[in-house]
Amino acid sequence: MTAQRYTVEEAFRLADGSPVMLYGWIKSKSQIGGLTFAVLRDGTGQIQIAARKNVANADALAAIQQVTTESAVSVEGAVKSDARAPDGREIQVKDFKILAKSEKWPITKSAVTSPSFLYDNRHLSIRGRKSIAVMKVRAEVIYATFDFFIKRGFTLISAPTIVQSACEGGSTLFELNYFGQKAYLSQSAQLYEEAAIFSFEKVFIFQPAFRAEKSKTSKHLTEFWMIEAEQAFVSQEENLKLQEDLVNAIASRVAEKRAKELDVLGRKIIVPEPPFPKVSYDEVLDMAEKKGMGFEWGEDIPTNVEREVSQTFDRPFFITDYPLSARSFYHMTKPDNDKVTKSADLIAPEGYGEIATGGERISNYDMLMERVKKQELPAESFQWYLDLRKYGMPTHAGFGIGVERTARWLCGLKHIRAASLFPRTITRVNP
Ligand code: 4AD
Ligand code: MG
Repeated sequence: MTAQRYTVEEAFRLADGSPVMLYGWIKSKSQIGGLTFAVLRDGTGQIQIAARKNVANADALAAIQQVTTESAVSVEGAVKSDARAPDGREIQVKDFKILAKSEKWPITKSAVTSPSFLYDNRHLSIRGRKSIAVMKVRAEVIYATFDFFIKRGFTLISAPTIVQSACEGGSTLFELNYFGQKAYLSQSAQLYEEAAIFSFEKVFIFQPAFRAEKSKTSKHLTEFWMIEAEQAFVSQEENLKLQEDLVNAIASRVAEKRAKELDVLGRKIIVPEPPFPKVSYDEVLDMAEKKGMGFEWGEDIPTNVEREVSQTFDRPFFITDYPLSARSFYHMTKPDNDKVTKSADLIAPEGYGEIATGGERISNYDMLMERVKKQELPAESFQWYLDLRKYGMPTHAGFGIGVERTARWLCGLKHIRAASLFPRTITRVNP
């Protein structure tokens, strides 16, 4: 009789001596005297397996001696606590079968001479313990977000990713030929969310966004996933509160459910409690000037300044009151100053920088039309967006938070590409 099948994670919880059958891949192998040790990895974790004469059958011993790294195998045996084993547990092998043999595994320490080697072989290197840990954290960020919005009565929507209206300005659009018409890959679903608040009041969306980013940086992908939320009848203050609560929910969920993965990454998360600190754009400009990193009022905050300010915080914070000149056309301005928007960036600490941007939108038709004209935007492709302002549009606000930026910060990654299973950057569209 064959033993019942379990996962590695379950095997760690079973009573000593329990019979198990596991499927997985061989991560590494070593021979010590008459004993063969291997590390078996499945979708839930990794565990040591040990094969010794008189316990393992003869076929199993022969198979485990032959097995190559990354071969798919099945193992039958008993769970055994052993202080010498990693994490204190091993499987004493009775039976062992090679299900699919692997050729010589190319991802070895000596072969990895540059990060690009790992990304050229990303289809293989994603099996590494660290990248698995990062992707589990990334998934948890998304699960936490869905739970958060569902609990608060937001409706999940979808929006087209082939569009004609540029949400965030023309400079980063990917253009495509849509049966002879010009179309673009969507930079953000915000404009469609604004249409959807009339039906659902509170909406959220989770979908890819595309930016033809011209600069090579550690925080830009050309395709990334964004979580966006939009609410009717709320002000920017409530919009900031929502972001604080979301980031608090994400961080506490990741800290709780992905402690093992964070350990693998050598990362500790301080769960940020709302309210988050708020500094204004003008204050950032002051700080920058004092450090000899000054810039013109009205410009976007330069990356090095953002990094510098971010390094002075140990939890996320907002930069508020951005000049209109540094923002997209739809931003609502302050009642007492039409050069300053009711918008903010949410900045991750320790130098990781911006993870979200949000603000209050213009609800008034004439005001928005004036912006479209002033910025010489193609009014035809924004006609539907303008039209919304004619049919009962209340005060509304929302934000977008980058999934990979958030995962990068939580995992403490040098480069954002490590937070994507198959990253797309200015220099990479394959694999
Ligand atoms: O700041 P952004 O451009 O804001 C918007 O698109 C708004 N329309 C969102 C909204 O209000 N609904 O993008 C939002 C977030 C950024 O803060 C960042 O986390 C992420 O998306 N992001 C990127 N992530 C990776 N690579 C890029 N090139 C990114 N560009 C933006
Ligand atoms: Mg932004």
